[in-house]
Amino acid sequence: MEIPDMASKKRPCRPEMFDFEGISMTNFFTDNWEKVKNFQSRPDDILIATYPKAGTTWVSYILDLLYFSNDDPECQTSQPIYMRIPFLESCFQEFSTVTGTEMADSLTTTPRLIKTHLPVQLVPKSFWDQNSRIVYVARNAKDNAVSYFHFDRMNMVQPEPGDFNHFLQKFMKGKNVFGPWFDHVSGWWEKKQTYSNLLYLFYEDLVEDTGREVERLCSFLGVSTSVEEREKITKMVQFDDMKQNKMINHETIPFMDFKISPFMRKGKVGDWKGHFTVAQNEQFDEVYKQKMKNTTLKFRTEI
Ligand code: A3P
Repeated sequence: MEIPDMASKKRPCRPEMFDFEGISMTNFFTDNWEKVKNFQSRPDDILIATYPKAGTTWVSYILDLLYFSNDDPECQTSQPIYMRIPFLESCFQEFSTVTGTEMADSLTTTPRLIKTHLPVQLVPKSFWDQNSRIVYVARNAKDNAVSYFHFDRMNMVQPEPGDFNHFLQKFMKGKNVFGPWFDHVSGWWEKKQTYSNLLYLFYEDLVEDTGREVERLCSFLGVSTSVEEREKITKMVQFDDMKQNKMINHETIPFMDFKISPFMRKGKVGDWKGHFTVAQNEQFDEVYKQKMKNTTLKFRTEI
């Protein structure tokens, strides 16, 4: 598998967003669409699905450790996580000749761990046909919005976010890459009601008790681990450890400007309280009530 020589490439211009299959997207996630749509999943694949900034890297690393730390510990210290867990719809042609689908196709490990931010209706059909296992992670809307704002500031292949209020207004309208948060989390929640191979996790539960959620993952995936192994993994995936880990913290990606904001930023529940004004909060609550009125999905209310 080719490791992209991203360090030698120049910074890209900020991409434009456009409507694609009913959601906002950039060319980095649509240029390879025919291959994404026709991607051939396997029954033992595990898809990690999230709205951007909901804890994708966290759960990815947990699964990576659960499956591969005994087989090939070297790999985890020498290969960035985005090489081990392909981002299905990604196509960063300015930086890499390898697309997400090509990376997934060339994986020799079993199971293949594959990441996606696609809303449920755009997931390639083969995942459903193969009854592949899926782990979805949702994060409360306000913290998710704050994290996405800082991500768009530092990630030069994301659209320019403007100031926080500008970003928040767009977020409420669903004009973000990968579409509205509201439809994403509720669409996947509805799918869970009929598709039993889907585990729906919450970021806030992971923060509250990571060990418990690791156990939940093990039981969903049928992975047997000792208490000691689970404790070791739980420690390795704590925020401070992941933040220091160069194979995890995305430091190797040249189009992310860590001087603006780190990828592993705060890792907190309730960080939105330091960002939202009272007026923004009231407006957000009103929009939230409207957009979420038809779903049974409930986030914790104390956040
Ligand atoms: P913040 O920006 O709020 O800090 P994703 O991987 O989906 O892009 O999500 C990134 C968010 O998850 C960031 O949120 C990041 O700090 C947080 N995160 C990643 N690993 C974490 C961990 N071990 N504990 C808590 N938060 C974590």
